[in-house]
Amino acid sequence: MHVLGIDIGGSGIKGAIVDAETGDMITERYRLETPDGAKPADVATVVGQVARHFDWTGPIGCTFPAVIRNGVAYSAANVDDSWIGTDAKALFEEATGCQVTVINDADAAGIAEIVFGAGKDQQGVIIMLTLGTGIGTALFVDGHLLPNAELGHIEMNGGDAEQQAAESARKRESLSWKKWGKRLNQYFQALEFLLSPDLFIVGGGVSKKSEKFFKYIETRAPLAVAQMLNEAGIIGGAMAAHAIFQSGDDGEFDHRVILAG
Ligand code: BGC
Repeated sequence: MHVLGIDIGGSGIKGAIVDAETGDMITERYRLETPDGAKPADVATVVGQVARHFDWTGPIGCTFPAVIRNGVAYSAANVDDSWIGTDAKALFEEATGCQVTVINDADAAGIAEIVFGAGKDQQGVIIMLTLGTGIGTALFVDGHLLPNAELGHIEMNGGDAEQQAAESARKRESLSWKKWGKRLNQYFQALEFLLSPDLFIVGGGVSKKSEKFFKYIETRAPLAVAQMLNEAGIIGGAMAAHAIFQSGDDGEFDHRVILAG
């Protein structure tokens, strides 16, 4: 089944048509800038433009960087506060005229990695992290997702871990790889203490430079670089929409359908 995957990020809104059963993108990615301030109505307009670019009338799977339950956003760490309580699903359906599934961005990336990427055929507890403007996390046990884990915001040194250890903190504070790597080490060790994972999968654009910082992270669990890089969100979003479609449910997606398929 073909689904339009749309990944909403802080700087860009990217879409592509995906074969949700194989995880292959069957078109080029189309990217538009995220509007300044990223307010709901403006983001919805761009989502509509992406759908129109593909002349799309089928199902859409959309990622969003917040807690999402039944299509509604419940947090707004790096987006406008007015998203809290916004029915993103209804908003994007109005903008596109299509059936839309909305899912947290890290959960989407994790689903794609678990089914087709670095977590394929791996059992046990897996933590997927996306290091970017924020820190996104997705938790899996034997391939089953625990949705909306917000472990980027655990307390570290009396503050929010994300503020200190996201890729944006490295850039904002012009940290050396070593200094940032040591902060990440503290953060990864805190996660390991809390959850004893079998594997960490590290994504986000900076994961392309893993040789610069993996050496500072001293966890018992191995680290794997995400394999789908920029495309994981688009593909995972499409997979979530496909799962909803298959289950005939218009509510929250059923990750077991994805993983059984
Ligand atoms: C948000 C998460 C999101 C992550 C990555 C965090 O600030 O709270 O929901 O997954 O950023 O975008």
